[in-house]
Amino acid sequence: MANVIILGAQWGDEGKGKIVDLLTEQADAVVRFQGGHNAGHTLVVDGKKYVLHLIPSGIVRGKTCMIGNGVVLDPAALLQEMEELNRLGVTITGAGFKISALTQLIMPYHRELDVAREKRKGKGKIGTTGRGIGPTYEDKMARRGIRLGDLYNRQVFEAKLQENLAYHNFVLENYHNAATFTLEAIRDDYLRMADQLAPYVDDVSTLLADAMDAGQAILFEGAQGTMLDVDHGTYPFVTSSSTVAGGACSGTGVGPTRIDYVLGVAKAYTTRVGSGPFPTELHDAIGEHLFTVGHELGASTGRARRCGWFDAVVVRHAARINGLTGMALTKLDVLDGLPTLKICVAYQRNGRRLENMPSDPSILEVCEPVYEEMPGWSEPTSGITQVEALPKAARDYIQRLETLTGVPASILSTGPDRIQTMIVDNPFARPRR
Ligand code: GDP
Ligand code: IMO
Ligand code: MG
Repeated sequence: MANVIILGAQWGDEGKGKIVDLLTEQADAVVRFQGGHNAGHTLVVDGKKYVLHLIPSGIVRGKTCMIGNGVVLDPAALLQEMEELNRLGVTITGAGFKISALTQLIMPYHRELDVAREKRKGKGKIGTTGRGIGPTYEDKMARRGIRLGDLYNRQVFEAKLQENLAYHNFVLENYHNAATFTLEAIRDDYLRMADQLAPYVDDVSTLLADAMDAGQAILFEGAQGTMLDVDHGTYPFVTSSSTVAGGACSGTGVGPTRIDYVLGVAKAYTTRVGSGPFPTELHDAIGEHLFTVGHELGASTGRARRCGWFDAVVVRHAARINGLTGMALTKLDVLDGLPTLKICVAYQRNGRRLENMPSDPSILEVCEPVYEEMPGWSEPTSGITQVEALPKAARDYIQRLETLTGVPASILSTGPDRIQTMIVDNPFARPRR
């Protein structure tokens, strides 16, 4: 059985949660490798909805779930999510849930810094989720971050916390004119949560290596999307982690030679939450249709998602950066009833045609999309389980997206429920390298 990475090929919210849940049936373990509780992954099973933020979507199927070292962890948010899942009938045990001791902790001052910084930026804000994600990754790279494992060595933890507070309180007070924090309150709170999390802390890299050596199949669950990657996305309007396939390896401690399949999830159109360039964004009745029919409200923050046509330049970019083996095309049903569909095949600037994503964000900002038009379909596609049963126009549209992106559609999704899916090429059926 193969090891498979599932990640977003656009700006996040592509439907990763649904696809992960669907394919989890064939995996032995699911591991998150980056991001934090800025993610919101929705799955619908027999009409029952679950929204996961930090815990891998595989938990609903009772598979072993892990949080890799590349994730930033807010222990309070994690404990709250565990409680909510418990209420929904999903039991989490120390045997079935593991968190890397190397995971960086989101601290209360990170959240405060995130919010204060956005406020200061005013109109130029990134539109972050306000969960402290960026400041936590900054501390990691600055080599002063506090890791989950540090909580179990009180002296080390207190010394690090003191050093961090001296620095961040200074910035909060003098630069942002914002609230500051005392050591004792944070220390006691985090030590209490450390006790609660102790059964789950482990060496995830070694656990994964042992599982793979024993022939088990691992699913790597990405959060956010390629265009939000800190290097390859629409910088600076990105998140602060490596959302791309390479991040799955560094974020779990697994070598790239062990990956057999990279599945990019893409909506049959495009959405984005937060600020930043979005060439195919629509401000008309079609945009309204995508927003309303697609229920495009954020799963984490409840913010309205901006909507637009499918952008083949974006997904081609994702195909290259991630080495996509296949794509899962979601929300095809949202296009039902639109008489004409547009696909962005390239960009245009000052009369010059650009086939690839420009690296300069100020250029992308002024790029015009070059559209190709295709006829839509009027029949409902929801619930269709055979590709041949899709309207001819829908099959033509899918084929055109495959040609333009160079990526075969391995999975087609026509509704939020697990069963509203067609698997054309099962990633887990691939032979091991
Ligand atoms: P993620 O962050 O990539 O996991 O995606 P989200 O869960 O944030 O957003 C995707 C939304 O689309 C969720 O509400 C899903 O239930 C829903 N969804 C997923 N696939 C489909 C589909 O094929 N059709 C429709 N109509 N909804 C879908
Ligand atoms: P999932 O996993 C869509 C966006 C935010 C903001 C930018 C930076 O559900 O696809 P951050 O709080 O990460 O510093 O915010 O990234 N963003 C997402 N957009 N889906 C997500 O996750 C996102 N996580 C962060 O809106 O523009
Ligand atoms: Mg989401």
